[in-house]
Amino acid sequence: MDKNKSIELPNTDGRLNSIGIIMDGNGRWAKKRHLPRSAGHVAGAKIIQRVLEDLREMGVHHVTLYAFSTENWRRPADEVEGLMDLIYKYLDEVVIPKIESDKDFSMRFLGDKSALSEKLRSKCIEVENMAKDRAFICNLALNYGGRDEIVTAVNSALAEGKTSITCEDIQRHLYTSASPDPDLIIRTGGEYRLSNFMLWQSAYSELYITDTLWPDFGREDIVKATEAFLSRRRRFGGLNEEDK
Ligand code: IPE
Ligand code: IPE
Ligand code: MG
Repeated sequence: MDKNKSIELPNTDGRLNSIGIIMDGNGRWAKKRHLPRSAGHVAGAKIIQRVLEDLREMGVHHVTLYAFSTENWRRPADEVEGLMDLIYKYLDEVVIPKIESDKDFSMRFLGDKSALSEKLRSKCIEVENMAKDRAFICNLALNYGGRDEIVTAVNSALAEGKTSITCEDIQRHLYTSASPDPDLIIRTGGEYRLSNFMLWQSAYSELYITDTLWPDFGREDIVKATEAFLSRRRRFGGLNEEDK
């Protein structure tokens, strides 16, 4: 029996609507097995749909996956090329059939598409145009950087003729304008940092970091992250009844 299926998912009572995931640890997963880093990325891509389905079953409607940062171009060219080919394959073989067969699933891309190859860029646009903002939205952060996103948003607001910029102006121009700020950000691979992920949107996100490497991220980890989230008291700078 599938170990993941035998574990029950917690009832979130609708409290968990938006999640961000920093999918880290693919390289270490491969290294532990004396495999090339690319094998870790392949294993990491394989688990994505299962994780999305579990989150959806718990009532999550927005999931943002950090797939490639604006800094990941610093990696060796063959790793970058392998990642881009893998992302293309994932979109073509997994995401497109999913959008065709599931009327509740859609995908958006966060990040600057102009640096992507023509082939990958047009695949992303094809995927986005297939379905817009269905009940479940997966945001794929690809060539995404939180700083780049904020600067781009400010420049878009300036291009509208604004001379003074408000938080709302920035918010409106972020790549994530269609999704609420993440309630929870999960980072696998055990590093205690955001690595330029959702810098604006994470202002009041709960953070959950696990040592589990992304390709090993199973239902047990989803349950632990969710239970940790449900036990937190969110205050947004104010006070809850029990704090008074
Ligand atoms: C995350 O895994 C995937 C990407 C950054 C694209 P890593 O490749 O960073 O794996 P580690 O951190 O080296 O183990
Ligand atoms: C963050 O992981 C980026 C993604 C998961 C896509 P990194 O592996 O790039 O982060 P650092 O370099 O350890 O901060
Ligand atoms: Mg890493």
